[in-house]
Amino acid sequence: MSDRHVGVVGAGYVGLTSGAGFYHLGHRVTLVDIDAHRVDVLRSGELPFLEPELERLVTQGVASERLHITTDRTGLALCDTVFVCVPTPMGEDGAADLSSVDAVVTELAALLAPGSIVVTKSTVPVGTTIRIGERLEPHGITVVSNPEFLRESHAVHDFLNPDRIVVGASDADAGQRVVDLYAGVEAPVLRMDPASAELAKYASNAFLALKLSYANTLAELCDHFAADIRDIGRAMGADHRIGASFLNPGPGWGGSCLPKDTHALLASAERGGVSFPLLRAALETNAAQAHRVVAKARQAAGIEAGGSLEGVRIGLLGLAFKADTCDVRDSPALTVAAALSAEGAVLTAYDPGVSPDSPAIPGVQVVDDPYLVAKDAAVLVLLTEWSDFRTLDWDLVGTLAQRKAIVDTRNLLDPAVMRDSGFQLVSNGLGD
Ligand code: UGA
Repeated sequence: MSDRHVGVVGAGYVGLTSGAGFYHLGHRVTLVDIDAHRVDVLRSGELPFLEPELERLVTQGVASERLHITTDRTGLALCDTVFVCVPTPMGEDGAADLSSVDAVVTELAALLAPGSIVVTKSTVPVGTTIRIGERLEPHGITVVSNPEFLRESHAVHDFLNPDRIVVGASDADAGQRVVDLYAGVEAPVLRMDPASAELAKYASNAFLALKLSYANTLAELCDHFAADIRDIGRAMGADHRIGASFLNPGPGWGGSCLPKDTHALLASAERGGVSFPLLRAALETNAAQAHRVVAKARQAAGIEAGGSLEGVRIGLLGLAFKADTCDVRDSPALTVAAALSAEGAVLTAYDPGVSPDSPAIPGVQVVDDPYLVAKDAAVLVLLTEWSDFRTLDWDLVGTLAQRKAIVDTRNLLDPAVMRDSGFQLVSNGLGD
């Protein structure tokens, strides 16, 4: 057990994972959130979202009384280091909206004791840590950047087994005190100045976005040349300079981070007078993916090119932006749904992580049974790579559907199984 007392502001997936992670590493943690309902739910041992491992860690921490979850910010006064983990959503101009961060900083200035450290963990535009530092320095508080690299649905794993820990500090002692909090985690520690740490985070997410747009366009080329994107990925990935991951095509990339961060990096580059056409191309390529899926769905439903989808029943398998999460924020599945709905298609959707009681999705009837989605569908479109979809009773699905046709945007389904069930399988860049 350590004698460090860590504060975390924001109980979203980053703050909650960080709070539970620092508790697991032996520190006392005070985690505050303004949402009283969320705090009650967490204290009762439940999570407001799907995140493997996290529920167990939070329950353990709360029971041990070393992870204190509260709406009362005054408890932060006892903390030597406070991590700011509040949202930085995309503003109207594409840039990050820092109003939540700024509000937290104002409160921390009044609360924290001289000598304490504030850490920006939220993804913040380059220069924010220095700017916050100028506000907090007169109060004797030092500010350090320590960006997060957690993937949703792997957040606890990534906190405890990161590829790297990035700490950006102008004050070497403060930086070291943040590094010390990770004692017990085996990972390279990369020390740098705050601006570089902030930019490293954006650069990483935007690079992943570039890689995915590249893979999605390669998949389109594979459709054209009857080549197989999986083989292209294997051949490219064998080159360690490229790496094998993040080359699986899909209906576009989404989620609460990649789109927002790519837009924000582009906005800040342009604001600084730096042109970054690569990022613009990655975003445009991503925006075009939904049209590719709609074209495939139209064809698989037996409608001539240019023909209308008006009144055509389409079943969607998956709504979340990726498997093993209930998160539909900026989900490519919703973009595809909106494009199909705009053409008059009648949409029913099933996702293991999204309940029919979730906030309504315009133009989509969400059901809690995949076989209901199949009923009378002219075509099914698989949008999220939940492994459960692989093992559906495809013979039954075939008897319920109007036509045995499916567009598999994730290349999840086994072609042999689908063939045996009599399905026309339209995959993504497999050369079929
Ligand atoms: C992403 C980054 O991967 C994390 O490193 C980062 O910390 C996080 O954002 C963040 O900034 O908080 P996450 O949003 O959880 O994590 O999602 P990813 O797993 O990166 O997936 C992003 C999108 O790419 C999803 O729509 C996913 O389906 C898609 N994807 C991913 C593909 O289409 N193909 C792939 O091969 C991989």
